[in-house]
This record gives sequence, C-alpha cells and structure tokens, in this order.
Amino acid sequence: MISVLFVCTGNICRSPTAEGVFRQLVEDAGLEDEFTIASAGTESYHVGDPPDARAIRMASKYGVSLAGQKARHLSAKDYAAFDYIFAMDNGHFSIINTRAPRNARAKIAMFLESGEVPDPWYGGEADFEHVYKLVRDRCESLLEQIRKDHKL
Ligand code: 4NP
Repeated sequence: MISVLFVCTGNICRSPTAEGVFRQLVEDAGLEDEFTIASAGTESYHVGDPPDARAIRMASKYGVSLAGQKARHLSAKDYAAFDYIFAMDNGHFSIINTRAPRNARAKIAMFLESGEVPDPWYGGEADFEHVYKLVRDRCESLLEQIRKDHKL
C-alpha cells in the first residue's frame, strides 16, 4: 500500500483538490487497492468542514468529486502513517518539517517540482481555476513518478 498525504493551510481548498484529483487518477488507472490518499491542514480553523464551495465547483467542472471530504488537522501520527507528505507552499513545507517527530517515516516534499500552489482563499474564480490546473497537471506527473518508483 502506498500512502499519500496532501497538506495545505485550511484543508478546504488546495489539498482537498489534490486529494480528489489524485484519487480520480488512481481510480481511472484501476489502482485504488494500491493507494491510501488523504489531505490535512497545518491549521485547525476549518476542522470538520467540507471543502470550500468554490473548490468543489471548480473540481466538479472538470469531472472530479470532492464529496465526503472533511477538513482535518495535520497530526503527529501522520508522519508514521504516510509514505509521502506533500506541501502546497513553502510555509507548509517549513511547518511540516518543524513539527516532524524523530521517528518520522514519511518523505516530506513540495507538491510542485518547482514553486508553490498559491492560496486561492482571498481570490476569485480564476484563482481557483489556476489552482485546479496546477494540481491536476502535477497529480498526473506525480502518479507516473510513483508508479515508476514502486513498479506499479
Ligand atoms: P487552503 O486555503 O489552505 O488551500 O485550504 C485556505 C483556507 C482557509 C484559510 C487559508 C487558506 N484561512 O486562513 O482560513
């Protein structure tokens, strides 16, 4: 089983989008039995909330459902439970590393190979669309990379 955790600030915009897109790609590839996919926030403001309505709408415009997702806070257990933890921006990357327990097993990396997924929270439709496309493109290359690394 390969476990992947996507992390942003509130766990209501960027990381739920990545969770939903990555899950859809994994299902399309018939690999759902090989993966555990989840997302979390570095902050707890939105714990228990569904994804932001604007993120839900943008994903659904491209055929991806974020249904059933609920925001949760990054926990110490995540570092042992997941193989990969992906940070959406430099702030998350720094916080995830700072909070890492000594026995952390997860490989912590930036989600994008270069740069950040910008926070769309104060933005509009175009910002959510930009985020969606960044996330979708990277999820495609990420799945390819993981499949290669794990010979799937
Ligand atoms: P996310 O977006 O990190 O992509 O879920 C945000 C959502 C909420 C807040 C910040 C970013 N907030 O400050 O409440």
